[in-house]
Amino acid sequence: MSPSLLLLLLLLLYCFPFSLAAAAGDHSDSFVFEFHRRPALPGLDLARQLLLDDKLRQRTIRARLEHARHRRRACGVPHAPAPAPAPTSFDMPLNSGAYAGAGQYFVRFQLGTPAQRFELVADTGSDLTWAKCRRRGDDAKSVSGRAFLPAESSSFRPILCSSDMCRNSLPFSLTTCPTPASPCAYDYGGSEAAVDNHSFMKKKFTVGLTACDRRYSDGSAAHGIFANESATVILSDGRRRKLRGLVVGCTSSAVGSSFRASDGVLGLGYSDISFAYRAGGHFAYCMVDHLSPRNATGFLAFGPAPAPPPPTAGRRWRETAISLDVEPFYGVGVRGISVDGEMLPIPASVWDLAAGGGAILDSGTSLTVLAEPAYRAVVEALTRRLAWAPRVRVEPFEHCYNWSTGAPAVLPRMAVHLEGTARLAPPSKSYVIDVAEGVKCLGIVAAPWPSFSTIGNILQQEHLWEFDVANRRLRFRRSTCRKRR
Ligand SMILES: *[C@@H]1O[C@H](CO)[C@@H](O)[C@H](O)[C@H]1NC(C)=O
Ligand SMILES: *[C@@H]1O[C@H](CO)[C@@H](O)[C@H](O)[C@H]1NC(C)=O
Ligand SMILES: *[C@@H]1O[C@H](CO)[C@@H](O)[C@H](O)[C@H]1NC(C)=O
Ligand SMILES: *[C@@H]1O[C@H](CO)[C@@H](O)[C@H](O)[C@H]1NC(C)=O
Repeated sequence: MSPSLLLLLLLLLYCFPFSLAAAAGDHSDSFVFEFHRRPALPGLDLARQLLLDDKLRQRTIRARLEHARHRRRACGVPHAPAPAPAPTSFDMPLNSGAYAGAGQYFVRFQLGTPAQRFELVADTGSDLTWAKCRRRGDDAKSVSGRAFLPAESSSFRPILCSSDMCRNSLPFSLTTCPTPASPCAYDYGGSEAAVDNHSFMKKKFTVGLTACDRRYSDGSAAHGIFANESATVILSDGRRRKLRGLVVGCTSSAVGSSFRASDGVLGLGYSDISFAYRAGGHFAYCMVDHLSPRNATGFLAFGPAPAPPPPTAGRRWRETAISLDVEPFYGVGVRGISVDGEMLPIPASVWDLAAGGGAILDSGTSLTVLAEPAYRAVVEALTRRLAWAPRVRVEPFEHCYNWSTGAPAVLPRMAVHLEGTARLAPPSKSYVIDVAEGVKCLGIVAAPWPSFSTIGNILQQEHLWEFDVANRRLRFRRSTCRKRR
């Protein structure tokens, strides 16, 4: 190849990194040279924050899974409510929260009448949709910054603590009910338990918890009241549509880094109060690279599935089952993990919910969290293949490399094999992640066994994920996240 031709090729690669990654994305058995032009990195602080948030969130998820197990033992499998009929299709722009120091993705959401605008974390690991909220008489310092003002919304109706709904079906509702007309209060662990200390955990046992109901508190950092409220969405034809009768939380105190960066949470989890569920139980999202600048936009879409596009190389749909046994989480059946086509020796119990393992797909977790036996096998396989790269210590990450030589590198190809024939083969930047200029670290966190594993949002990025809750199907494909249609 002549030098000028080589230069041209490099220039093209530099200018069109997406098309290269996309075209290369499906050839699982070939090595891929990845050139990624990156924006200025938000830096090490962000990476550290992601790791910290993920660890805290794991505790919340574990507490809620534990609770689901208890409840199943005591009361049998909860009946699956039917999703509300889809009001029609609508979507919302979805952006990485990295610019704000958060590892989650934000959507713009309009709540109340007239609509008040918020940025909420799109969270498949939460069923309650809530916003920071200032009610009349609240201490102005209880929530900082932008907040929902119920007094200015004509459609805001507190749910009463004496109602059946409060007593029997709202998660994390508290037993306290001073008068029948008092609002139904919650103490919610939806997005993350941001405070992790003993006084905090003790609180968990001071709240009434009976055998079969859903009164439960994992000592979360979001307190507030439940309300019946409306939201406004923009339909695909541009018209505005009001969605009424949503159960939303008005949170008067919240702690946690993603809480600070966002105005609350959009609940996409599985339960009868989840927004995803109220919007028809069929939704899809596509998250751009988490290090993308603020104006790079993916989407969160609701409504009937788009017609499948013609199968082009690298863009095939992969389909698998979702398990709803771990409400409000979406469980996926993992068969194994391979590196460079070699299936790793991971005990089957790691992927078995009944054995204390299992895996969930979670948009609110950033990194990939693997139960210890899987973590050891994956890290061993990756580090062996990265042994040529100079190691560098970057606390609190365990495996980091000096990437400052800038040479295009051959990276090991990791793939997660799901139930059926679905294979998630993410780009290598989704597990050998950029944490600082010239430094890459394995974006994988160990969870002490026994534990479930979590496919976080970085492993999911640059894929379109479609959830069909009623049929318990999940499908995905590589995507640049440009809006469909
Ligand atoms: C523990 O949590 C409580 C409740 O949020 C908080 O007030 C206290 O400052 C925390 N203590 C420590 C040592 O972090
Ligand atoms: C919300 O309020 C509307 C009208 O006030 C009512 O019809 C609906 O049943 C309520 N929904 C919930 C979940 O409370
Ligand atoms: C984002 O903003 C930058 C300048 O701030 C601009 O160069 C770039 O084209 C924008 N990207 C998109 C996708 O709008
Ligand atoms: C990486 O290696 C280069 C060249 O040896 C060195 O200048 C740089 O400081 C190293 N970076 C880190 C983060 O250790």
